[in-house]
Amino acid sequence: MTQHVVARTAEIPPGERVIVEVEGRQVGVFNVDGEYVAFLHRCPHMGGPLCEGQVIGLVESSGPGDVRLDDGRKFLTCPLHGWEFDVHTGQSYFDPKRVRARRYPVEVRSGADMVPGPYTAETFDVVVDSDYVIVETGRREKRRRNEHQDGERGASS
Ligand code: FES
Repeated sequence: MTQHVVARTAEIPPGERVIVEVEGRQVGVFNVDGEYVAFLHRCPHMGGPLCEGQVIGLVESSGPGDVRLDDGRKFLTCPLHGWEFDVHTGQSYFDPKRVRARRYPVEVRSGADMVPGPYTAETFDVVVDSDYVIVETGRREKRRRNEHQDGERGASS
């Protein structure tokens, strides 16, 4: 399985989402109460823009006058026809045995733990000598030597 860095955690605060493109697919990455979850941005019902929907708690009722909000169970609601999908399993609330939204595993890693990339910037050794900061490069030393030799030639002619 290929992993992709899609955002910094600071870019997705609790209650927010980003929709990114990964391997040609649009994927919504959500921060649900500090937990990151990811869904394919395509509803399994009729292909609606699932990840543009609201994340809401489960509303239950045993009958008229009885409405309870279970904020411990969260659902992603498709904006097209309102189908709801459990953010932890992807299962449809309407038909949990047959319909499921496509989820992707998400993990958070420290930048220090990331595998270094293949590209490396050119670096130079730096020496602090008394009041001067000196950056060492081969070119400058060569140029200085050439200037010194030119000076000697000028003095001898
Ligand atoms: S397309 Fe999502 S509920 Fe119909």
